[in-house]
Amino acid sequence: MILTVTLNAALDVTHRLDRLRRYGSNRVRDVAERAGGKGVNVSRVLHALGQPTVVTGLAGGLTGAALRRDLVEAGLADQLLPIEGESRRTVAVVEEQAGDTTILLEPGPVVRPGEWARFLGRLDALLPGAAAVVFSGSLPRGVPEDAYAVLVRRAHAHDVPAVVDADGAALRAALPAGPALVKPNAGELAAATGLADPVAAARSLRAAGAGAVVASLGPDGLIALTPHGGWRARSPERLAGNPTGAGDAAVAALTLGLVAGAPWPDLLAEAVALSAAAVAAPLAGEFDPAVHRRLRSLVDVRPLRT
Ligand SMILES: Nc1ncnc2c1ncn2[C@@H]1O[C@H](COP(=O)(O)OP(=O)(O)OP(=O)(O)O)[C@@H](O)[C@H]1O
Ligand SMILES: [Mg+2]
Repeated sequence: MILTVTLNAALDVTHRLDRLRRYGSNRVRDVAERAGGKGVNVSRVLHALGQPTVVTGLAGGLTGAALRRDLVEAGLADQLLPIEGESRRTVAVVEEQAGDTTILLEPGPVVRPGEWARFLGRLDALLPGAAAVVFSGSLPRGVPEDAYAVLVRRAHAHDVPAVVDADGAALRAALPAGPALVKPNAGELAAATGLADPVAAARSLRAAGAGAVVASLGPDGLIALTPHGGWRARSPERLAGNPTGAGDAAVAALTLGLVAGAPWPDLLAEAVALSAAAVAAPLAGEFDPAVHRRLRSLVDVRPLRT
C-alpha cells in the first residue's frame, strides 16, 4: 500500500458561469465539489491504476466531513485525522465563454499542538503497512516549520521510503532528513535554490540531502538526478488540457517505480506518460488511460550530460 499524507486537505469547489462580472452579482450555472489536496490527487491516480493506497492527513469541520464523504465515494481508504479547525476550500470560478479560471485558495485551519502529536501517532500506526509514503502540499498553520523533516524521519524509523512534493521552506526543511525522492516543479526548484539552471538546482537539492531529485518542467518533461545517474525524459507530444495535478500524477508513477525497484529510465518514461495523460483529463487526480497507453513507449529518455 502507498500512503499519501495531505496535511492541508481541501474541498475543491468549482463554480461555472459564462462570464464573471467584477463588482457585480453573478449567477452560477452549476457547482461541483470534490476532495482535493495534492496527496489526495496522488491517491486518486494510484487507485485508478488499481494500486492499493491510503489517504491520511488532517481534516476538520463541515468542510472536512464533506471532503471525507467524497473520498469514500471515490473508493479511497480514508484515514484522515479529524481536527477541530475547519478544513479549507479551494474555489475555482470557471468562465466558460472566455475559458478563464480564477482560483481562491483559503488558508485552512490552525492545527493545535495536541492534534499534531495525535497525527504522529496515526502515522506511526499506518507506516508498518506502507511500501512508501508520499508527503504532498502546503503545511497548515500550527504545524512545525520542519514538519516534513519530522515526518520523513518517522518513515525512516519504519524503513519506509519517503517522497516529498512541497515547496519553499517546507521543502528545504525536509532535505536534511534524507527523503528518497523530491519532486519540485520548475518554479519550486528555482525558488528553493535561487538557481535558474534546473540541473544545477537539482544538484544542490541532492547535496542538501535528497536521495533523488526529479524536477518536472511542464511540457518539457522531467529531469532526474539520482544515485544511479541523471536523465531527461520528455513526452513526444505537447498535450492540451488541464495541467493542474499533472505533477501529482508524476509523483504517483515515481513512487510506484521506486517501490517496484524499476530502472530509472523506465520509471521516468512511465512518469512522463502518466503525467501527460493527466493533462489530457479534465480533473486533477484523473488521467486519460488511452493517452497513457499510447505515450508509454514513445517517451524520449536520455542521459543528462552533467
Ligand atoms: N502540456 C503538457 N504536455 C505533455 N506533458 C505535460 C504537459 N504539461 C505537463 N506535462 C507533464 O506533467 C509533468 C508535471 O507537470 P508540471 O511540471 O506542470 O507539474 P506541477 O507544476 O508540479 O503540477 P501540479 O503541482 O499541479 O500537479 C511534466 O513533467 C510533464 O511530464
Ligand atoms: Mg506540483
